[in-house]
Formats: sequence, C-alpha cells, structure tokens
Amino acid sequence: MIDQQTIERIQDTAQIVDVVSDFVTLRRRGVNFVGLCPFHDDRTPSFYVSPAKNICKCFSCGEGGSSVHFIMKHEQLSYHEALKFLAKKYNIEVVEKELTSEEKQAQSDRDSMFILNEFARDYFVKTLHQNPEGKAIGLSYFRERGFRDDIIKKFQLGYSLEQRDAFSSEAQRAGYKREYLLKTGLSFGDDENRPLTDRFRGRVIFPVHTLSGKVVAFGGRILKKVENTGKYVNSPESEIYSKSKELYGIFFSKNAIVKADKCFLVEGYTDVLSMHQAGIENVVASSGTALTLGQIRMIHRFSENITVLYDGDSAGIKAALRGIDLLLEDGMNVRVVLLPEGEDPDSFAQKQNAEKFNRFIDENEQDFIRFKTNLLLEEAGNDPIKRAGLISNIVQSIALIPDNIKRSIYMQDTATLLNTREDVIIAAVNKIRIKNYEKRKEQRQKEESRETPVKTESASGDAINTETKKFLPAKSPYEKPERELIRYIVRYGTLPIFVRYEKEKQKEEDKEIEVEVTIEEGPSVIEVIKFDLLRDKFIFSDEVFFSNSLYRSIFDEACAKLSDESFVCDRHFLTHHDPEISKLATDLISDKYQLSKIHARSIGESEDEKGSRLRERNFLDKLVIRATTELKNAHIMQMIKELNKKLETAGPEEETELMTRFMQLQDLKKVLAKNLGERIILKF
Ligand code: CTP
Ligand code: MN
Repeated sequence: MIDQQTIERIQDTAQIVDVVSDFVTLRRRGVNFVGLCPFHDDRTPSFYVSPAKNICKCFSCGEGGSSVHFIMKHEQLSYHEALKFLAKKYNIEVVEKELTSEEKQAQSDRDSMFILNEFARDYFVKTLHQNPEGKAIGLSYFRERGFRDDIIKKFQLGYSLEQRDAFSSEAQRAGYKREYLLKTGLSFGDDENRPLTDRFRGRVIFPVHTLSGKVVAFGGRILKKVENTGKYVNSPESEIYSKSKELYGIFFSKNAIVKADKCFLVEGYTDVLSMHQAGIENVVASSGTALTLGQIRMIHRFSENITVLYDGDSAGIKAALRGIDLLLEDGMNVRVVLLPEGEDPDSFAQKQNAEKFNRFIDENEQDFIRFKTNLLLEEAGNDPIKRAGLISNIVQSIALIPDNIKRSIYMQDTATLLNTREDVIIAAVNKIRIKNYEKRKEQRQKEESRETPVKTESASGDAINTETKKFLPAKSPYEKPERELIRYIVRYGTLPIFVRYEKEKQKEEDKEIEVEVTIEEGPSVIEVIKFDLLRDKFIFSDEVFFSNSLYRSIFDEACAKLSDESFVCDRHFLTHHDPEISKLATDLISDKYQLSKIHARSIGESEDEKGSRLRERNFLDKLVIRATTELKNAHIMQMIKELNKKLETAGPEEETELMTRFMQLQDLKKVLAKNLGERIILKF
C-alpha cells in the first residue's frame, strides 16, 4: 500500500504534459495540448491534455484521466503499479508497508512476470560480461560483428550459457517461482518432479522492450550453424507479450522519431543495432513479420512518415508489399529505399556514418505508390493483360489513402506514370472505395449483432462509446441526478455555497478605491446537500441517498471529512487510493459541462453567457438545490409508479390506505415541481 500523502506527491509532481509526451507527440493548442489518441484509431488529433487541470482526455473515445490513469491504461498497469512507475520516473521515494503474504499472493501475475523478466535480463547481461563462457563466446561474437560496447550496453544484450538449466536453477535459487518461469516461457518443464530446462541455451540474447522500456520478451540468436535449428528462438506469447503489439527498438527510438519526424522500418534486431551505432536512431524492426495495425499506430503517434528499408534483392520485396497497404490505410506517408545489391540495413549501416547514410537515403528514397507502380510496370512489360492487372493492383492501394487531397495527387501521378486517362483511374478508385465502405459496414453490423448488452451501472457512463451505447438497457432513473450531485461534491464540495460581497470604499494612499468585502459566507456545498437530503429522508428507502455504490462512498466520505480543516474535495478525490473513485473524479472534473438552456434561464443568465465553469460556481446555491430536488423527484416518481402497480391488484381495505399515500405523494410532487420550475413535466 502506498500512503495517501505519497500518492498526492506523485500526482502533483507528474505533470500531465510531461507524462503524456513520453508516448504521444503533443502540439500546443491555446491553453491545451493536443495529439493523436493512443487508445483508439485516431487520425485527427482528439486527445487533449490540460496542463492547468493536470488531466488528459480523448474527446472521441472518452479515455483519459490523471497522469496515473494515463499510465495505467497505456502500460496496462494496476493503479498501484502505475503510481510506482511515476514515482520512479520522478525519483519520488515510495514508502510501502511490508506486504503480508496474502498481499504478496495477490500481486498480479503480470507484475511477477515483469519482475522475473527483469531478473532474466540482468542475468543474461551479467553472463555476457562476466562469465568466462559468456565473454569468450557471446561477447566476442558481438564484437566480431562490429558492435561497440556502448551499443551492447544500451540494448542490454546478453548471453545464455549452454548448460541446459543454468538460468532456471539460478532463478529458482533466487526465489522465482516455477509457475512464472513457465508462464514467461523462460523455462520448459511438464513434469513437476524434474528440473526445468532453459529455453535459451548457448545463444546471444536480445531483450524486447515495450514503449516504456519494460522487458516483455527475449530473442536468442544461435551462434554456429546447426542443422534443423532456427536462427532465432523467441519468447512465446504470454499474458504480457503479444508479438504483434510490440516493435523492436521503439523504446530507444521514439524521441529520435519525433525529432526527425520520420521512422525507418527494418526487419531485424541487428539492423536496429547497427543503425543506432551509425547514429541513425529513428528506427524500429518488425522482427521478420508483416506489420500489424497495432504496430503501425504505435509509430503513427510519433510521426506520419515511414520509410521502409529493403534488402537489395527483390525476393522479399513483393511479400512485404502487402503489409504496406495497412500503412497507407492508416494515413501514413510511406516511402521506400532499396539498398545496394547484397546489403541489408545492418551491413550497410556498418559501413557508413550517419551523414553518408542519410545522403544515400535522400537520393534513393521513393514514394511507395510510385515504387510499386514502377516495379509492377517492369514486370508487366508490354503484356496488355498484365498491365490491366497492374492498374487494378495499384488502384487498390490508392483507394486506401484516407486523405482526399493526397489521394487525388496520387491518382494524377499514377495516370501519368501508366499513361492512362485520369478519369479512368478516378472511377476505378471510387468503385473500390465504395466496395470497401460496404464491406466495413457489413462487418460492423455483424459485430454489432454479436454484441451482448453490457451492465449499466458504470460510474463513468459517458465513457461508453456510442457504438455500444444503443444496446444498453435503460439507465437507472437516479443516475443522472445522482451523478450531478456527486459532480458538485467533487468539484466544489468544500466551497461555500454562496458568498455575499459588499462594495466598500477604502482609502489607499490618497486615492479612494472600491473593494469587495465578504460579508457573508454560506455553509459548504457538502453540508447543504447533506442537510437537504436528510430533511426529506423518508423519500429514500432506508435513507440510502445514492443507489450507485461508488457515488455513495464518495458522499459518505465527503460527509465524514467535513470537520477536517485540510480537506479539499477535488484534490482528495482526484488522488484517491481507490482507482475507480479517482477515475470518476477526473471524469467529473474534465467534463465539458454546460448549463442547459433552461438552467441558464432559470438562474437569470442570458443564453450566450451560459456554460462557463466560473459562472456555475457563482450559482451554486441554486444549482445544488435544483440537483437535490431532481433526485428527490426521481424517487417520488418511482414511488408513485410502484403504488400504481399495487393499486391495480389491491383489495378494498388496502386500497383506501394506498390512495391516501398516493395523494400525499402527489402533493409532494407538486411542491417539488414548483421548486424545479418548468423542467418537470407532470406526467405518469
Ligand atoms: N526472426 C525470427 N526467427 C527466425 C528468423 C528471424 O524471429 N528464425 C526474426 C528476428 O526478429 C530477426 C528478424 O526476423 O531479427 C529478421 O531476420 P534475419 O534478417 O534473418 O535476422 P537478423 O536479425 O538480420 O540477424 P542476423 O543479421 O544476425 O542474421
Ligand atoms: Mn541480418
């Protein structure tokens, strides 16, 4: 457990812009910053970061929150892990009480797997640099390939001994459980009674890092050629590792990608290493497989420009062509560089410095569509059938480009290159776009019909995306007024419900000036809400004012804290140790709240003034009472509904009693309706 004080310190230190910038390129817009949302497929920036409120929010998918929530979501960490992550970044000492054995047990599997991977990485590194076998075989292999020591260190390269259980037994001696050795795939072993076997034996080790530098997997390269053995052995997919989601090198390259506004894409680990060594750091590797959408989006957050480096021989090129369509579809500008015959990025970079390398790129970089067109043209020669096939192939790629202007430039360009009429190309592209659109629509409908209704009582109801919203059952009738009240509590809870000023003339030096002097301050917002609900407590069954349990605990806690002088509502709930509460608090604080027209009118505000938070604060007395009244009204309506049902089946004696009660409720409703003005429509 991390204590509240430390949580607050972490939240205060972790400036949201700084935290988010590690993962998303931000641009200033007014008082805020914006960028592409890392949580959904975002092509135009909808991710807002507010330094003033120290929170972030995507106005398209609704994700966001404080720095801690951002890290939780982005790094897939628990609240606790995310706090520790930030504490580490900002060198804040975290005093934790010793975990009980039960708490230790409860530590997530993921946590344990990451810790074990870290241990393994350190072990392999140590073996490479200190063990005689590691030095003689592993380290000398890297040196022979021309890797400098600083690169070997930076990428945390290592070595695994040939002995079949060297690592597994070392890890078990150090207290790591068999379960996690198996789950991470570092060891094999079906039989409980037999010792574990190492996955990596006699190989040099490349750790694979996440965007934030955690080790999720390893690749081990064999040193000598052995029949029927793969050159690389890799960690298996696991709870923490999904090969298609990671990009080798991204942790070390993200800053350089932003700086150069360009990312090089290569195939292998060693390509990344050699390019870094040559001084070109904006490079990632797809690790020998076709790029996935997830990987593309990861790159896209740092730059729109991607340049794919291919080996000189054209064998691999065509296989790779298919993967590139995904890049186009995501709106990336894709370029291609063919390296000289017989070179791969690794060997080529080993012979160059950054300057020469970049010059070669500048001179040889080609736009992808053009590259593909030329390549296919060469192949088709003068064969008319092949040429027709070629046009349809190119048109397929162009149709994927989301940006209208870019697309039309490509259509022009291609028409020229192929010596075809432009309108023919345009018609073909449009036909495909319509087909693609229909296909997507159909797919969406299929997905939607599979969708099962989701439970409603989600505290942050508005974060549910619109796609699934229409399948939700009706919300609880209390949700809206309850949320409204909680919003006032979280935002303004400890503020006085009203402040009365009086203008007073004062003398300052020789001049007479007018100042505002506080002459009266109302009770706090929480006190008012509590008092007003208690006053009509009979309306609520069992005096439970909030049916949503999360709201209830916020209300109870706010009431309990009232006498605490240092208690400040928004800060308290934003930094709450319960992640659900702190998430809800951020949502409520980042809500772009607008007074409704009727609200605005009823408090005597002209319509064009409505909406600003400052104003809301000036009318708290009216707004808060309106909200408590709405909540009471919702309960009365519910009671009337239930009474009506009972009346339908009631016997004569019971009926009289029920009727009396019914009339009472009706009266009450009228009183409330008067308070609420025209907003309540009298119907049931
Ligand atoms: N790869 C793999 N398993 C294999 C072969 C390749 O996982 N059996 C992946 C690795 O991520 C490798 C990438 O595909 O880095 C590219 O393969 P390749 O070009 O063969 O390897 P290099 O990394 O270039 O290794 P080297 O230069 O040492 O041959
Ligand atoms: Mn290679």
